[in-house]
Amino acid sequence: NSIRVFAPATVANVACGFDIFGFAVDNPGDQIVLTTSDEPGVRITDIIGDDGRLPREAARNTAGIAIQTYLKHIDRADLGLDIVLHKQMPLGSGLGSSAASAVAGVFAVNELLGRPLPILKLLPFAMEGERIACGSAHADNVGPSLLGGFVVVRSYNPLDVIKIETPATLFCTLVHPDIEVNTKDARFILKNEVSLKNTIIQMGNVAGLIAGLMTPDYDLISRSLVDVIIEPVRAILIPEFNEAKQAALDNGALGCSISGSGPSMFALSRDAQTAEKVGAAMQQAFLAVGITSEAYVSEI
Ligand code: HSE
Repeated sequence: NSIRVFAPATVANVACGFDIFGFAVDNPGDQIVLTTSDEPGVRITDIIGDDGRLPREAARNTAGIAIQTYLKHIDRADLGLDIVLHKQMPLGSGLGSSAASAVAGVFAVNELLGRPLPILKLLPFAMEGERIACGSAHADNVGPSLLGGFVVVRSYNPLDVIKIETPATLFCTLVHPDIEVNTKDARFILKNEVSLKNTIIQMGNVAGLIAGLMTPDYDLISRSLVDVIIEPVRAILIPEFNEAKQAALDNGALGCSISGSGPSMFALSRDAQTAEKVGAAMQQAFLAVGITSEAYVSEI
């Protein structure tokens, strides 16, 4: 028995919602092929597209650990499984690469076994993959990669994940400059304390963004795509961040910020044409200092 599954990249945080907001894009994404085997245990037989950088040992690999934790939970740790992982997005990109692999893996094994668990219940296993990859079991990438659309993590303990409506037409531009930022490092530099003043501003934007998406109200979305807590600290990890963001806003984006822990940046636009233009302008800003990049446009 064999199954092939695709899981999409995701934009986590979405400006104001550090660790609590995320949405899925159409591409890029990872693919996984799982094949049952007579030999018990989970093995990674091949990883294509990572230049040999990801751990081949199942217990140290984000997809491998997610599958192992899942199998243990459903009492099938004896199952023999061979994994082939097709990495189709850059590592350390802020596009939710580790999350996509973990989600693809756990979704694939659940389907292969005839869906013993409902999809929402797969989330904690995919989160284990995140823990291995970057030291924190955050759900703002695995949530939307698994469920699609825009996802809110209302609470981690107990886990409470909600999928919310977005406008019928809303487009995301993702620009990935060809540099790497390690999520662990990008979390390490964050301050542990937040001022009451900034908490109030951030809460206002969190509430405004959700109301804007659900109404829908593009102007409200635009006013709410602001992050006064995380972005100012992490922006220093991305050369030309301010210039690329300004280029996005000058070209009609509703807002622009860091995708996940960076270095990728995302912008939201009302239509596909604007989203394409925004991407080209952001790429140009990076290119001005010799940084090449890839741009992706998806409908949300
Ligand atoms: N919310 C996480 C962070 C996402 O910003 O560290 C990492 O992709």
